[in-house]
Amino acid sequence: MEIVLATGNKDKVREMKAAFKGLKVKLLTSSYFKIFPKPRETGKTLEANALIKARALLKHTELASLSDDTGLEVAALNGKPGVYSSRYAGYGATYDDNCRKLLREMKDKSRRAASFRTVVALCLPDGREFTVSGKIGGVITRGRRGLKGFGYDPVFRPSGYEKSFAEMSLVQKNRISHRGRALKKARKLINALSKEK
Ligand code: IMP
Repeated sequence: MEIVLATGNKDKVREMKAAFKGLKVKLLTSSYFKIFPKPRETGKTLEANALIKARALLKHTELASLSDDTGLEVAALNGKPGVYSSRYAGYGATYDDNCRKLLREMKDKSRRAASFRTVVALCLPDGREFTVSGKIGGVITRGRRGLKGFGYDPVFRPSGYEKSFAEMSLVQKNRISHRGRALKKARKLINALSKEK
């Protein structure tokens, strides 16, 4: 079985390869195909956007395609930035712009609960489509903490931990993270599919 990973993000590729290590599948990255589709993520949910990406890559490569979509949902902001996490501070916003906007919006909020959710979608050439998800709860910190990770990691502290995601090692983060949990479920799914006749 061959699976194409619908992401150009090197950190995500590394995480996915680690998560699927030992499975009887050959993993290809979308960049292997030189020209690959980058569809507009017009969905209103993480599920919809993950499927848009995986379907587009399947259409292009005719191979099983796997994508992920992640959002940070903040209770005091009615679930924002959610599906718009990557462009919270506008199109072309940097991680830094997004964190700055989030801290500003949360400045006077005492209720700081938030959660990260990742949806992984797998689309197969035979038309079957699967989604699995992973979630972790935590709080938005009062300021940036830590230099590791990416995105909103410096402003998110998972429940039950003293450190923000940006203060944790990658191994520690992946063990408990939204994406780590979703990829664990995807691993089970791929394992079962790879054993089909
Ligand atoms: P994407 O759609 O999965 O690329 O994620 C949307 C946005 O969420 C990204 O631009 C990142 O800022 C943020 N994000 C995704 N995964 C993580 C994570 O593991 N930690 C922190 N931020 C993340």
